[in-house]
Amino acid sequence: MMSAFTRTLPPTNETTRRRLYEGEIFLLPATACSKQLVDAALDEIRSSLNDCEDPRTAQFQLSGVEFFERAGVLRKCFYTDTRFHRLVADLIAELGFSVESTGFDPARLRVVSHEGHQNPAAVAMYYGHRDTWYANPQSMITWWLPLHDVGAAESFEFFPECFGQAVGNDSEIFNFDRWVEGGSDKLIGWQNANTGLTAQYPQLLEEPSGTALPVECRRGDILLFAGQHLHRTQKQATHLTRFSLDFRTVDLNDHESGYGAVNVDNRSTGSWLKKFVPLNTVPL
Ligand SMILES: [Fe+2]
Repeated sequence: MMSAFTRTLPPTNETTRRRLYEGEIFLLPATACSKQLVDAALDEIRSSLNDCEDPRTAQFQLSGVEFFERAGVLRKCFYTDTRFHRLVADLIAELGFSVESTGFDPARLRVVSHEGHQNPAAVAMYYGHRDTWYANPQSMITWWLPLHDVGAAESFEFFPECFGQAVGNDSEIFNFDRWVEGGSDKLIGWQNANTGLTAQYPQLLEEPSGTALPVECRRGDILLFAGQHLHRTQKQATHLTRFSLDFRTVDLNDHESGYGAVNVDNRSTGSWLKKFVPLNTVPL
């Protein structure tokens, strides 16, 4: 098992996908398309918070309710607006993933506040988890892009040694159809301040073994990892808010043939895949 990040992509996408399914984590320098996506997201964030000095300190200038509401509007925009679908699709294609056989779950904005873990409604954001525990395919790949330079204290960490071994978890509580009952709020994530108090989020139920691998990266860098990777957001008290985007892809041929990371402990049911957008249907 690798202990650090790979900085360049292999020559073929087939090899990239195989190595991701085997647990390799890629941390790639910013590209033309990742910069476009990140710049467009930052423009939206700045205009939403234009009465604040800096988005990274806006949480101290607005009430908690106001900050959460504005973040919710932004989250919905990034997830649903076809302009952002296009920016995401361009980045996926730029890195060599097939336009014909790739589907993606659109971009989600993640906002990790200074001392956000003190908020009872946000507790689940800090659960250790695998993204696959949310009824995602074993072939799912997660893409994560910081909207500013991010240090280890404010990002998240992987537990690479747990990639191929079962860990205690309650992923069996997650059923996709139940999750989206009553609207799309939970699809986009954290649209409603009370969701975190009522919804059941799958979580790691033990302290993970092995060495934690913290993420440190620059604005617009692209982190690619198998949805199977166990990871956990840092509780942070840096006096700054952390902003990042993430989205997910599935190669539909790989999924259909059962090719992907080997499932070690995911017992979630249903399938998030029906909400994925085929890359070749995104308007130009
Ligand atoms: Fe995650």
